[in-house]
Amino acid sequence: MNKWNIDQVPSQPGKVAVVTGANSGIGYEITLGLVKKDVEVIMACRNMQKAEEAKAKILHVHPQAKIKPMMVDLSSLNEVKKFAHQFGSHYDRLDLLINNAGIMMSPYKVTEDGFENQLATNYIGHFALTGLLLPLLTGTSGSRIVTLSSLSYKWAKIQFDDFHFRRGYSRRKAYGQSKRACLIFAFELQRRLSAAGSDTLSVAAHPGLSKTNLDQYFPALIRPLGSLFLQSAQKGALPVLYAALGKEVAGGEFIGPDGFQQIRGYPTKVDADAYSRNKEVARHLWKASQEMTKVFYLGNNIYDKINSSKNQNIVFSQVCFKWMGSRSENRHKLYAGH
Ligand SMILES: NC(=O)c1ccc[n+]([C@@H]2O[C@H](COP(=O)([O-])OP(=O)(O)OC[C@H]3O[C@@H](n4cnc5c(N)ncnc54)[C@H](OP(=O)(O)O)[C@@H]3O)[C@@H](O)[C@H]2O)c1
Repeated sequence: MNKWNIDQVPSQPGKVAVVTGANSGIGYEITLGLVKKDVEVIMACRNMQKAEEAKAKILHVHPQAKIKPMMVDLSSLNEVKKFAHQFGSHYDRLDLLINNAGIMMSPYKVTEDGFENQLATNYIGHFALTGLLLPLLTGTSGSRIVTLSSLSYKWAKIQFDDFHFRRGYSRRKAYGQSKRACLIFAFELQRRLSAAGSDTLSVAAHPGLSKTNLDQYFPALIRPLGSLFLQSAQKGALPVLYAALGKEVAGGEFIGPDGFQQIRGYPTKVDADAYSRNKEVARHLWKASQEMTKVFYLGNNIYDKINSSKNQNIVFSQVCFKWMGSRSENRHKLYAGH
């Protein structure tokens, strides 16, 4: 690929994108890139003041930009469900979902749902958000879901017997596990979308090493060193923008920088290790994620069901909406009437 950048993309008016963690770092630059192409962006952020400040900064440079900050705390399933409900009552299409928000190597914390905080924020919240927005995504022709992983996915495998580090916490392993889960999820989501006959694409991306606020939990003395060798957030956003808008991108691909060790550079297709592509691991993770979130979509038996049924659309909508009736006390009226 020849040094792809956003200038190669034609204007895309009418398209709608949700970018999580859009107020800072990579998410801010993704938002900037998308509004340059006339995409309407919903900045899904946990801090409305920061989101409004980021919006004002963008409007200063692009006064025509269509941007709407909306509140979501990815570490809370309740907040994710509220966001999806609010989004669904304002919008009838979703072209791009960018699962970007994240924290890295934070101190041990258990969320209100009882989850380890890095896994909850980086992965579980996005699993739920994707499922809740899926009817809108699959109803929008040519839509894409881009999920952010990291080179750090290699730091850990999935601890199926101790997802939440109750037996002892490692900040590094917890971050690695969460980013590994994001990668496995992006691949499995594509397999399930394809099996369901949907043209929505799921793509994984990573930004190499980029200077952002992600190092906020690093020791103060180390943080300034980042500026010496990390690439800019603007450059780090390119693989994500390419995954979202690049013409040649296929579902199930992993996009990262093309430079030395994928640390910096222009977007290219990169490899993932065998464990991240392992279908059995992915199936277990999907099942566990559904159980943790109570958001059921593209169900676990989808391959069997589709093989025994000629009508993929019926199967697809059945599994998409299964979550709606799955729990009487937690029943959400999202997309009622759709
Ligand atoms: N920078 C890198 O070198 C690098 C490398 C590999 C992967 N990544 C990935 O890139 C993504 C973006 O990170 P970044 O580098 O741009 O870091 P960043 O500047 O710290 O941005 C992270 C964004 O996520 C938001 N966020 C954190 N917790 C959240 C929550 N509970 N609910 C909603 N939003 C939340 C943050 O909001 P606040 O501003 O309110 O904190 C911020 O907007 C992450 O998924 C990260 O794992 C980054």
